[in-house]
Amino acid sequence: MKLYHHYKDKAYKYIGIARHSETLEELVIYETRYSNDLGRLWVRPRDMFFENVNIDGKSVPRFKKIPLEIVTSTDVSESDIKTLAPVIEKAFGEWDEKWFYSTFNQHKKFYLLTAFVEDQAVGFKLGYEQSQGEFYSWLGGVVPEYRGLGIASNLMQTQHRWCVEQGYKKIQTKTQNRFREMLMLNLKNGFDVIGTHASDEGGMKIVLEKKLEQK
Ligand SMILES: CC(C)(COP(=O)(O)OP(=O)(O)OC[C@H]1O[C@@H](n2cnc3c(N)ncnc32)[C@H](O)[C@@H]1OP(=O)(O)O)[C@@H](O)C(=O)NCCC(=O)NCCS
Repeated sequence: MKLYHHYKDKAYKYIGIARHSETLEELVIYETRYSNDLGRLWVRPRDMFFENVNIDGKSVPRFKKIPLEIVTSTDVSESDIKTLAPVIEKAFGEWDEKWFYSTFNQHKKFYLLTAFVEDQAVGFKLGYEQSQGEFYSWLGGVVPEYRGLGIASNLMQTQHRWCVEQGYKKIQTKTQNRFREMLMLNLKNGFDVIGTHASDEGGMKIVLEKKLEQK
């Protein structure tokens, strides 16, 4: 994940390494995750970004990398759903238990990935076997405070690797125009649009499919 905390505790997104065009020195480009009147994008020499500093006699990283933990399960329990409910509520703006269970109860072979940052659930991806050799990626989201850090990409790539290992030949998913970020994320990760149909909620559903290459 691209999230770092400065030793004074502010959060930054690591963008990448650039080279100074005159001196060829390596510089880290990073972005504030809070509003800063002086600007959003900053640079700092690479060695300095990754060095330790002495604070009150203690050596600590100037920027501490915040790890992402992904917990997976093929046996989705009531306790997993309790963890998911607030994430779904924050990511989608609502948690409709009846709606969730009306689909959940119709399927069996699930694969759930939950993303944790500092022990807090911040994102998830949930899918199930649609038919033999075909997996359906049903729901996914990341809470707004943690978006743009590569969490959904990580969840999707982990899901796809697992599907290949399980021998699935393709993954299908559906989205809508209004979920533009998810639509772009799907296209970026190899899905093709294969059709559309009317949505129960009005508007149009976009059907996407990705063929998986067996190793
Ligand atoms: C869609 C969603 C899961 C993306 O989560 P995320 O962790 O912020 O995504 P990532 O940081 O991994 O971004 C991956 C890619 O998605 C696309 N993307 C994500 N957010 C985007 C944005 N605001 N604008 C444009 N593209 C965006 C980009 O292609 C991005 O790659 P890039 O950073 O290299 O440009 C998140 O926005 C979300 O939860 N949305 C609400 C729920 C939702 O729409 N669910 C889908 C219903 S079908």
